[in-house]
Amino acid sequence: MYARVIGTGSYLPGKPVSNDDLAARGIDTNDEWIVTRTGIRSRHLAEAGTTSSELGLIAAQRALEMAGVAAADLDLIVVATSTPDFIFPSTACIIQGKLGNKGAAAFDVQAVCAGFTYALGIAEKFIVSGSHKKALVIGAEVFSRILDWNDRGTCVLFGDGAGAVVLEASETPGIMATAMHADGSQFGILNVPGQVCSGQVTGDPFLRMDGQAVFKFAVRVLADIAEEVCAKAGISTADLDWLIPHQANIRIIEATGKKLGVPREKVIVSVDRHGNTSAASVPLALDEAVRDGRIQRGQKVLVEGVGGGFTWGAALLEF
Ligand code: ACO
Repeated sequence: MYARVIGTGSYLPGKPVSNDDLAARGIDTNDEWIVTRTGIRSRHLAEAGTTSSELGLIAAQRALEMAGVAAADLDLIVVATSTPDFIFPSTACIIQGKLGNKGAAAFDVQAVCAGFTYALGIAEKFIVSGSHKKALVIGAEVFSRILDWNDRGTCVLFGDGAGAVVLEASETPGIMATAMHADGSQFGILNVPGQVCSGQVTGDPFLRMDGQAVFKFAVRVLADIAEEVCAKAGISTADLDWLIPHQANIRIIEATGKKLGVPREKVIVSVDRHGNTSAASVPLALDEAVRDGRIQRGQKVLVEGVGGGFTWGAALLEF
């Protein structure tokens, strides 16, 4: 038994916001610095008050439509987000309610930018065990809410958005292999070290990052986990048709592709237009490449993510 992707969907709020637009809003930055260091040219930023469930709902509806699956027939909904609507209930339950599904298991996964790869691996295991038949897996984020707009070293890097896939139990492949890892000793290099306590925000509610430490860590683990997942499936990285790494930074993406020997034309890139959308980055890039016809049925697609924790995860799909 395999878990097979039968539909993808995504959603980006509003119009693209260019690097020049950010400078015009008073951030002490410029297009040349951002493009050279990160490859990011624009990102989408949600209106104040927009929630992850609102973005995730539209991505989910698009994935369900492509899959030809009614929301009522889902028996599992997993949402990867680090910007949930509320402390509780989960964003998965909120989306479930908006979709009109009753009875599916619904919960959130918090693994930051690796969140979608974790959620996909978890849903795959539910399906392969035989306990569930149809799963909706969503990555949805409103990272603009947790950015310090006075910190030019981080606020230019991120964007908002959502992506989703529908998985179905199938005799034909299918997700071929998955992996998930974490190293909590690295929590200090990327975090939002705040908390709501007795009605007050304690600590720091904004994203903080040691960019150079993140860069080195990300390249190492993205290369290692791609090798690990390919080995589990009995293939080499040279056999991949497409590599979809977490879309954080073009230099991390290129360094990972180079380490793995995957040529640039087989690497799907959306960071230039989306920025880093955390848990939404991989399903957004996947949906774009499915809908524009680059990814075809039967091809081998490796998706991988890395994020705060530190966490990292990957899945090899025979699409
Ligand atoms: N515009 C203009 N100048 C800037 C900006 C900006 N937006 N941000 C920082 N600078 C300046 C700094 O103030 C500094 O100036 P100084 O030398 O006068 O003090 C100079 O640029 C260099 O700053 P550094 O932080 O050392 O820049 P660095 O070359 O390390 O690049 C970057 C920063 C792009 C964040 C890099 O470290 C990187 O790519 N890291 C990877 C991190 C990443 O992608 N994180 C995404 C989230 S993590 C994840 O998803 C896994």
